[in-house]
Amino acid sequence: MRCATRWCLPLTSGWRYCIARCARRLFGGAGLSREPRLIAESARVMTNSLQSRLISWQAACILLVGAIAGFISFFSAFQEAYEFQDDQLIQVAALINSQILSVAEHSGLPVVVKDNDSRFTVQVLGQRSEHALPLPSNMANGFQTLLLKRRSWRFYVRSLADGRRVAVGQSTEGRDELARDSGVRTAMPFLILLPLLVTLIVVSVRRTFAPVERLSSDIDARGQNDLRELDLDGAPQEIRPFLHSINGLLARLTRALAEQRRFIADAAHELRSPITALLLQTANVERAVLDPEARLRVASLKAGLQRTRALLEQLLAMARSQSNPQDPVENLPLASVMCQALRECEPLAQARNVALALHDQSGQAQLSATRADVLAMLRNLLDNAIRYTPPHGMVEIALRAVAGEIEVSIADSGPGIAAADKARVFDPFFRVGGSDDFGSGLGLAIVRTIVERLHGQVFLEDVSATPPHGLRVRLILPRSRDGSRPKLSPVN
Ligand SMILES: Nc1ncnc2c1ncn2[C@@H]1O[C@H](COP(=O)(O)OP(=O)(O)O)[C@@H](O)[C@H]1O
Ligand SMILES: [Mg+2]
Repeated sequence: MRCATRWCLPLTSGWRYCIARCARRLFGGAGLSREPRLIAESARVMTNSLQSRLISWQAACILLVGAIAGFISFFSAFQEAYEFQDDQLIQVAALINSQILSVAEHSGLPVVVKDNDSRFTVQVLGQRSEHALPLPSNMANGFQTLLLKRRSWRFYVRSLADGRRVAVGQSTEGRDELARDSGVRTAMPFLILLPLLVTLIVVSVRRTFAPVERLSSDIDARGQNDLRELDLDGAPQEIRPFLHSINGLLARLTRALAEQRRFIADAAHELRSPITALLLQTANVERAVLDPEARLRVASLKAGLQRTRALLEQLLAMARSQSNPQDPVENLPLASVMCQALRECEPLAQARNVALALHDQSGQAQLSATRADVLAMLRNLLDNAIRYTPPHGMVEIALRAVAGEIEVSIADSGPGIAAADKARVFDPFFRVGGSDDFGSGLGLAIVRTIVERLHGQVFLEDVSATPPHGLRVRLILPRSRDGSRPKLSPVN
């Protein structure tokens, strides 16, 4: 037995390995599935960094210029208010003459005069009174700043016609306060307008970059096989050369992928005939009179050839699902296609002793698709459910029409798929460890490609919270309205 296995496996698994390796290069997740995501990601990174760079540079420039302008206006307003108050001192001093002083003295008014706000003090130098400031009588004419009783004062001294000298003064504290108020009032508009200006910059930069954001979300929303050219309408002039280059790249990628797909499909097609011929030959050999050991070797060879043929079939199905459909797109009643898929999978279910149950509540709801696509999708899901459910298990299928959608649920009583593997099982050639030797890892990749083409969604859920969890595959597919023309997303 050991010898028989050794003799036939190098042949069959060697073929399978070569074909799978070649196909992995074509369908492998690294190339095809990440392409649009990568472009979207790089476009988004570019937008974000350019936007934030523009916003931060402009905001920094405005804040700097605004701060300098505010500072300059504060100081010039401060200086002006100071000079204005000096002028006021001169004007008040000019109004005082000998007659006014004599009238004041005769009417018993003090020689020290203060205005209501105590902003001006008028005093005759050399005269003493209880309210008078201790001004030195030898103060020179003109402006003087003195420290009296711990307060700073600004005085203007002038000689009158009769020789007396008058000092008109203000406390510098009050003068500074007035000058400061005036400076702050002048700089205030800058302080208020700066945040407004920065907000306007943020809004305008975001609006300017909106077309780039739109482009990246357009690419993000695409399916993994959607390599259509980017729409240049409304794209800013500056990024058009970049978009043209991306479109050129997408066109080259599309051509290369189409060529590779054609090659793999042709190779799989060409290999199908010799494998079928080999299978016929093994059937003939089986019919001959053989000793038990030779019979074991032939059985092992036959199983290997069957697996190789199954892999070739899946490769062809994958290539077909990724190219534009050759069959006509029709409005198909889902229930009838499901019945056909169930009929095709029934022998396998019987062989594995798995029960199948269909609950149809779809009410003849229809899908816009090719029969080959829908059949391939359902066949793969039923095949998995039956194959991964232990003998005497159960596969329940439910069809439901809700609003504009059709829900297909295929639930089995098998081991289910671990949460960590649920996203990966859709990658081509990914198989969970311990799965039987028959599969190729292409089934769910084919399902995902077809579901995306139909603008639908596929979810993998646990049937039960306790082991064996079972697996429920839920498809949500858009329903075609009666009389509507069938439509599919194009494939490159
Ligand atoms: N109903 C299911 N129950 C448990 N595991 C499943 C089920 N369907 C798929 N799987 C797991 O997902 C993997 C990928 O499935 P698929 O792409 O159909 O490849 P294949 O069936 O050829 O191995 C399988 O190897 C299997 O481990
Ligand atoms: Mg499978």
